[in-house]
Amino acid sequence: MHHKVFIFAVLFLVAYLGCGEAPFLKMTNAVCKSHNQSWVAVHYCRLKAYSRTKTSLNINVTFIEPAKHISLHMKLMKKANGYKPFLYDFTVDACEFVRKRNHPVVKIIWNMIRNVSTLNHTCPYEGLQMVSDFHHIEVPIPLPSGDYLLLMDWLFDCKPQLSTNVYFTFIEDLLPSSSKHKRSSLNFRTVV
Ligand SMILES: *[C@@H]1O[C@H](CO)[C@@H](O)[C@H](O)[C@H]1NC(C)=O
Ligand SMILES: *[C@@H]1O[C@H](CO)[C@@H](O)[C@H](O)[C@H]1NC(C)=O
Ligand SMILES: *[C@@H]1O[C@H](CO)[C@@H](O)[C@H](O)[C@H]1NC(C)=O
Ligand SMILES: *[C@@H]1O[C@H](CO)[C@@H](O)[C@H](O)[C@H]1NC(C)=O
Repeated sequence: MHHKVFIFAVLFLVAYLGCGEAPFLKMTNAVCKSHNQSWVAVHYCRLKAYSRTKTSLNINVTFIEPAKHISLHMKLMKKANGYKPFLYDFTVDACEFVRKRNHPVVKIIWNMIRNVSTLNHTCPYEGLQMVSDFHHIEVPIPLPSGDYLLLMDWLFDCKPQLSTNVYFTFIEDLLPSSSKHKRSSLNFRTVV
């Protein structure tokens, strides 16, 4: 499973570098939920308008007790008569990840989020955890256009304690692919 995910990521990265049009992503909703009030308190979990085409994500939660063993179950859903599982569904040891940065898909998100969150350190995590005004999003994976839901379940000691779920709309490419192909073959002839 892990290898398949990695091969997908590499293939898509290569495909993306090959086409180079800026894709468009807008977060449309954020829903956080504590599954254990004596461990996690959710104070704030909301999108704010950042610009006409952009929103920013803001999360403020408190881990009441230290979390020493954290896993992240990440599952991507795509809308098609309701949300259906799409492409990614995996669980990573989050404490190991922050030490080794050893998962290619989580690393994409980590690199975008680490500067605007309180998460950039190793386990344990305790007290206030925040993501502030997160809006700088680059997706090096060309997903097909559509409405998505990224489910993130946080497990402490192997039990679900918190969910942070983000809905977003993705538009793969602002140009129709046929005109892009025409254009690149024109370029090719010009070069030859
Ligand atoms: C809920 O949190 C408390 C406090 O940290 C912990 O002792 C308990 O095991 C947790 N319950 C579950 C089901 O994880
Ligand atoms: C986070 O939420 C708590 C509870 O609403 C609040 O007291 C605290 O000031 C917030 N922290 C920040 C930095 O926004
Ligand atoms: C985050 O900060 C580091 C070092 O401060 C910088 O090199 C990196 O480009 C920043 N990443 C983003 C996505 O802003
Ligand atoms: C994240 O933490 C690492 C290791 O402590 C540090 O080298 C790096 O500068 C930090 N980056 C940011 C953006 O805070």
